Amino acid sequence: SEPLRIALAGLGTVGGGVIRLIETNADLIARRAERRIEIVAVAARDRSKDRGVDLSRYAWEDDMTAMAARPDVDVVVELVGGSDGPALTLARNTLAAGKDLVTANKAMIAHHGLELAALAEKADAALKFEAAVAGGIPVIKSLKEGMAANDIKRVYGILNGTCNYILSTMEDTGRDFADVLAEAQAKGYAEADPTFDIDGIDAAHKLAILSSVAFGTRMDFKSVTTRGIRRLLAADIAQADVLGYYIRLIGMADTEVDASGQRRLVQRVQPHLVHRDHPLAHVDGATNAVVAEGNFVGRLLFQGAGAGDGPTASAVVADLIDIARGDIGAPFSIPVAELGEAPAAET
Ligand code: NDP
Ligand code: HSE
Repeated sequence: SEPLRIALAGLGTVGGGVIRLIETNADLIARRAERRIEIVAVAARDRSKDRGVDLSRYAWEDDMTAMAARPDVDVVVELVGGSDGPALTLARNTLAAGKDLVTANKAMIAHHGLELAALAEKADAALKFEAAVAGGIPVIKSLKEGMAANDIKRVYGILNGTCNYILSTMEDTGRDFADVLAEAQAKGYAEADPTFDIDGIDAAHKLAILSSVAFGTRMDFKSVTTRGIRRLLAADIAQADVLGYYIRLIGMADTEVDASGQRRLVQRVQPHLVHRDHPLAHVDGATNAVVAEGNFVGRLLFQGAGAGDGPTASAVVADLIDIARGDIGAPFSIPVAELGEAPAAET
């Protein structure tokens, strides 16, 4: 059968990982997808940068926003980042051209996901973003498919690898915040602007997406109450330890029914004291963990690498394999027009 031809925008931590994964596991992927996945064109800012991968086989696209117009491309993979700007233009161009889009860009999905989903539905194209939430953990698929039969009441967890790396490393070693953040950046965990990580904004983006998928509601990023870890001191971590707790940055989304019977949504990202006996206390390094509670399945815990090139590439390529198999799916489990409103609960 015909190969699935992809254009790759962004050749940084995740883009590099996607090339290595597609090249390393090409035969296995072809068997599972029942066709080959071929990279046709690539784009980034600096063509001369050594990225440790051989790009000579792929066409270089100077204007990445034009990738969608290439007749030799079926799917665009956006791994550039930023909620607006060229990433958003490329996403809109791709879906407007009736082509499939895979992205790891949680900022863009949290801000423009509904608009993009509506474009995708209109064009009968795929919009997939498994890598946008919790890195390598297939949590979007698990909520949309594995828990499809459940009324999901609550979803919460550790959604930012950089913060978890900082907190758990400071805990173990007593090292300085800035020093450990620099290490998380060097490992490729942090956002291009790491204030998104340490101020809780990245976790809030992911929480807004998770809420929408879990509860079938319209995304509401602006209602996420967000507090990060910037002001935490080693002394806070030591004091928590004395009391028998660890500190973790937790995102939580819960629904509550108010006096008038209306379902309201509470969405918060903030540092929590987590008791030593709780599984989330032992989530270390750049690991993420998501707990989802369904009314029939009970409580499920998903845990694994939440950031980094390999795990994130794993989620991106899983989306590509779905598309190669013809599994387009609805971006948010139900059509955009049917997503409910869940007004923010008073906080
Ligand atoms: P990087 O900063 O490592 O890579 C970004 C890439 O985009 C670079 O290749 C850069 O080009 C290119 N780029 C940036 N701006 C432009 C532009 N204006 N025009 C053309 N190319 C541009 O980011 P990551 O790989 O870490 O992240 C990519 C996306 O994946 C983001 O949305 C991020 O939030 C998301 N993500 C990241 C994870 C991680 O662990 N790193 C995990 C999950 C999601 P150049 O290399 O030439 O500078
Ligand atoms: N900066 C993000 C994190 C990348 O540290 O979790 C994964 O989404």
